[in-house]
Amino acid sequence: MTFPKNSSVSSTDNWLKNLQNRIEQALERALPSATLPPKHLHEAMRYAVLGKGKRVRPLLVYSTGATLGAAEIILDKPAIAVELIHAYSLVHDDLPSMDNDDLRRGHPTCHKVFGETTALLTGDALQSLAFQILSDPALGIPEKNQIRMLALLAEAAGSRGMAGGQAIDLESVGKYLNLPELEAMHKLKTGALIRASVLLGALCCPNASQSILENLDRFAQCIGLAFQIQDDVLDVESNTAILGKPQGSDLARDKPTYPSLLGLDQAKIRAKGLLEEAHQILQAIEAPTERLAWLANFIVARNY
Ligand code: IPE
Ligand code: IPE
Ligand code: MG
Ligand code: MG
Ligand code: MG
Repeated sequence: MTFPKNSSVSSTDNWLKNLQNRIEQALERALPSATLPPKHLHEAMRYAVLGKGKRVRPLLVYSTGATLGAAEIILDKPAIAVELIHAYSLVHDDLPSMDNDDLRRGHPTCHKVFGETTALLTGDALQSLAFQILSDPALGIPEKNQIRMLALLAEAAGSRGMAGGQAIDLESVGKYLNLPELEAMHKLKTGALIRASVLLGALCCPNASQSILENLDRFAQCIGLAFQIQDDVLDVESNTAILGKPQGSDLARDKPTYPSLLGLDQAKIRAKGLLEEAHQILQAIEAPTERLAWLANFIVARNY
């Protein structure tokens, strides 16, 4: 896939490869060395974060920042902060007391390699590291915005965001959720961090207008929900080798999902509808939004 002809971005491949390298290097720098005690914990943190994953959330931070003219160097820390929170959520999500999965990003899950206690602490420490990084006095963003960013990420990760969504997910095993209830759960467990990614990128640009922020917020909410619908769809129709996590895990645990409630076809129609809405919102933004448009397409078209 390539960007439109008049785009300043020459090819998606280069853009993605360069940014993914940049994200990897920034994460590598941020994580404690595995030679530093407690070595077992630091090794587990690095295992959970480095070398794998699509990096959709940091890509959203960079793409939103690029849309509004922020320099990549300003976006590095917010981008990795949200990826660290995401990586923590995956480590905990896979634990036996949660989804009890053995494979993540094509490798044995953190608790399989390091044990459950270390996996719990890995999640805790990754979350703390994210906030340590985002509260860096040398972030290079006006303090007022930095505080908004910290509050935004805290809310998105907490009981009114990802952790709350995970609580509803676990309470709902084997139960019927109606569509508004299912959407509310998805918006929290996955949508909240996707929304935070876009808004963190936007808040790196102190001159972003209120109307742009509102449009980006609406865009982010559409793609956040679409992201989890596609995740549910892939659990049904992809395969473990491509996914890098166990296909069929939702069905095996009797989780309420879009396909289980509406069927696969309706789930895909809902994801496409959200994608169209996301594109319409981008069209109303007077700034170069082609990277965000590409990521929105990727979120719905991906096969892993
Ligand atoms: C998986 O997220 C968990 C969900 C929130 C659905 P990703 O699909 O972004 O996982 P990685 O980071 O690419 O492994
Ligand atoms: C997880 O949703 C959302 C998180 C907050 C990690 P899932 O449980 O569906 O994610 P996967 O399918 O295991 O990646
Ligand atoms: Mg889960
Ligand atoms: Mg899971
Ligand atoms: Mg899933």
